[in-house]
Amino acid sequence: MHEMDKLNPNNVGPKEKAIDGSVKLRVGIIGTGWIAAEHVKEYKKMPDVEIVAGADLISGKAEAFFKRLEVDGVKLYPDHKSMLDAEKLDAVSVCTYNATHAECTVYALDKGVHVLLEKPMCVTLEEALDIVRAEKRNNKIVSVGFQPRFDANMQMVKKIVESGELGQVYYIRTGGGRRRGIPTPFGTSFIQKDTGVIGALADIGCYSLDMVLNAVGYPKPLTVSGYKLDYFGKNPEYFKAEGKPAHYADIFGVDDFAAAFVRLEGGIKLDFIISWAMHLDTPGDTVILGTKGALRIPSTNDWAGTVGGPMKIYHEVAGVGTETVVPIINKNGPGLFYQKIRSFVEAVKNGGSAPVPTSQILYNQAILDGIVKSSDAEREIEITIPEI
Ligand SMILES: NC(=O)c1ccc[n+]([C@@H]2O[C@H](COP(=O)([O-])OP(=O)(O)OC[C@H]3O[C@@H](n4cnc5c(N)ncnc54)[C@H](O)[C@@H]3O)[C@@H](O)[C@H]2O)c1
Repeated sequence: MHEMDKLNPNNVGPKEKAIDGSVKLRVGIIGTGWIAAEHVKEYKKMPDVEIVAGADLISGKAEAFFKRLEVDGVKLYPDHKSMLDAEKLDAVSVCTYNATHAECTVYALDKGVHVLLEKPMCVTLEEALDIVRAEKRNNKIVSVGFQPRFDANMQMVKKIVESGELGQVYYIRTGGGRRRGIPTPFGTSFIQKDTGVIGALADIGCYSLDMVLNAVGYPKPLTVSGYKLDYFGKNPEYFKAEGKPAHYADIFGVDDFAAAFVRLEGGIKLDFIISWAMHLDTPGDTVILGTKGALRIPSTNDWAGTVGGPMKIYHEVAGVGTETVVPIINKNGPGLFYQKIRSFVEAVKNGGSAPVPTSQILYNQAILDGIVKSSDAEREIEITIPEI
């Protein structure tokens, strides 16, 4: 058997199991934009889930949303509070823009409702701590919506590190970006300060951090020196060239580029760079350097799914510098979104722990927050995370 195949013997992912639909979870959807539709499409495949309520701040949006997705009998509300006050729910999907992730999640937890929270977890470390505190005091779970966690190739990154093949990891460079890719697909909620709050950092930065931090066991971040910029987003010519309204540059209020140097507990140093737009295709692959070997993970444009190509392990075999290609794993299991939502539903039904827990993503958010604070202060800062 090839050395790498030992890590994933059957080269397949989990199979969809038959679901007992005799007891149904009562689920509500908060925010009925683009990502909410992906949640609803997956919930609809689950006979043990009933979508009973939905809320959106924009009048008429939730109604049109459920009509388009052909879900009947959903009670509609003008915001998360009125929905959670009126309904007895088991779980909600928080699918709002970044700015309201924390308030919706904390409110739901305080009503005794489990939360599947879209990424990024929220927009500041303080908000992340509020979420963790609410989760603890109510004994409910929050799972953060990182669907790449369910991708077999992404899982290989963690398996390779845990196999010991790289020895002790001491340096990681991660991140990436797009030459042209400021997201304004159906509106401007990603780029406005009052809705997105943080930009490339929140949108794709959190994913690239999750891939490597998860692989090395989510060590606590200690210090960060970072900065964020907005040269492309503030340029009307950028949007004109993209066929978008030039005034998007006026309302652009977030970062389109960020970079940082982060010290992690356990001695790992992390270099991070993320970009929605730049005059370059990619700032480089992710690399994980260890005392016995190194892993190269080809860069990807979007970070929301899988790795950018076959990974390579650099190591010594019989004293000779050798490169081992890790083949891409193609599996025909249920999609990543299905798995992210199903794993949450299973955890709620069975009283299990969150598949993507806030205890980990708190550290991810602490780094994003540290980059913002370090950028504002124009110096390295210490990251202080109280025990909860
Ligand atoms: N996992 C993924 O692959 C993925 C993909 C896209 C977006 N996202 C994340 O999903 C989130 C939403 O993105 P989107 O593109 O759907 O945004 P969107 O702007 O299209 O939709 C968000 C909706 O939430 C509503 N909303 C905000 N606060 C609310 C509240 N308190 N009560 C009720 N409704 C409220 C808004 O009115 C809006 O309609 C973002 O945080 C984004 O990062 C994740």
